[in-house]
Amino acid sequence: MQKRKRAVVIIPTYNEADVIGEMITHLFEKTFPKIKDWDCHLLIVDDTSPDGTAKIVEKHQKKFKNLHLVLNAKKMGIGYAYVVGFKHAMSKLKADVLIEFDADFQHPPDTIPVLLQKIDDGYDYIMGSRKVKGGSNPEGWGFKRVFFSEVGGFVGRFIMFFPFKHFFKVTDPTTGLKASRVKGFVDKLDMKNLYSFKFGYKIEFLYQMLALKAKFTEIPLKFGLRTKGESKISGNTAKDVLRSAFLLRWNDPFIQKFLKFGTVGFIGYLVNATTLWLFGSKLGYAEWLAWLLSTELAIISNFTWNNVWTFKDQKFTSPKDLLSKFVQFNGTSLGALLIQTTVGTILTTFLGVQYRQLLLPFIILFLVMPYNWLMYNKVIWKKKK
Ligand code: GDD
Ligand code: MN
Repeated sequence: MQKRKRAVVIIPTYNEADVIGEMITHLFEKTFPKIKDWDCHLLIVDDTSPDGTAKIVEKHQKKFKNLHLVLNAKKMGIGYAYVVGFKHAMSKLKADVLIEFDADFQHPPDTIPVLLQKIDDGYDYIMGSRKVKGGSNPEGWGFKRVFFSEVGGFVGRFIMFFPFKHFFKVTDPTTGLKASRVKGFVDKLDMKNLYSFKFGYKIEFLYQMLALKAKFTEIPLKFGLRTKGESKISGNTAKDVLRSAFLLRWNDPFIQKFLKFGTVGFIGYLVNATTLWLFGSKLGYAEWLAWLLSTELAIISNFTWNNVWTFKDQKFTSPKDLLSKFVQFNGTSLGALLIQTTVGTILTTFLGVQYRQLLLPFIILFLVMPYNWLMYNKVIWKKKK
């Protein structure tokens, strides 16, 4: 017989003594028996809750052999609990799939077989969404919670992904119900350098999983009302999540490169403007010579800073490379000059010279910058295979 794949459901707990026993029993007696082709385990990660949650888990361990418990010495946050739980499930329990789940029945246990079915269908990362057809927020939620959930989720999505495809695909980024494939995905996550070990971890795992090119989908989640115990979400949670979203995007290699590219371009402009003034107004060079020299100095500045900073991973150092690439760079810069001159002339002819100063930044932003970005990435500092 083929070895059954193993799914580990992970529930972090802090003061869940009121519900955890009921949840454990429900999962082992009602949910897991329905799932035929998966070997299901349950792992509780408790932060030594003062209400004695762990004691209840230990009591149930006598009855259910697939029930596991990991204890953190003190309250470390939900994200930290999942890091510990993920590691334990991979190394000790040899999990093939990990499911993130809440203790308090706000996630209906019947979503677990649905998640696993999606894994069988070939998906690597599945999230329960309140925003798709069939999903919903609890009826009893007050305005404040709905507001934070809606606005926070949208802003988080926007900061992390706009305008790329994930922005449209991920409808509920902060959801707590997820299934993740271990091989090729969770085993490649960077869990050490998280910006947040609290609720922000959710979107950090999401961001990383999508960067690893996980095949992603959503299932509807009817998020229930918590009937026992208390929510651990606090006023700082939204701030924590948005902070993680911002830091993820800001430190993204693509964004970092683009910001450097923009900065170098701006420095080039300053070099151009100041040396034009110096040669033209101060030293009284011929007009054409002042323009030529100042433009070439800007080109040299752009080439140098992009080489040692923006594209430092593809940096050239040998005199031979530097020379040939510099000649090439002047060639592509000439291309930019031609674009700017041609388009600038045409547009001012049609619209009138009074729009000259207004047109320049638009031409730079929408034509010259994309052109330069393309040339730098695809020609000058092209990545070697
Ligand atoms: N070990 C540990 N340590 N567990 C924690 C901690 C912690 O510091 N904080 C929360 N938990 C556990 C809770 O005991 C519960 O099992 C689970 O994490 C979810 O916490 P809740 O306090 O019930 O969160 P919620 O219902 O308000 O928020 C839910 O919805 C959010 C989206 O609106 C969760 O599913 C969130 O993950 C989700 O982002
Ligand atoms: Mn809850």
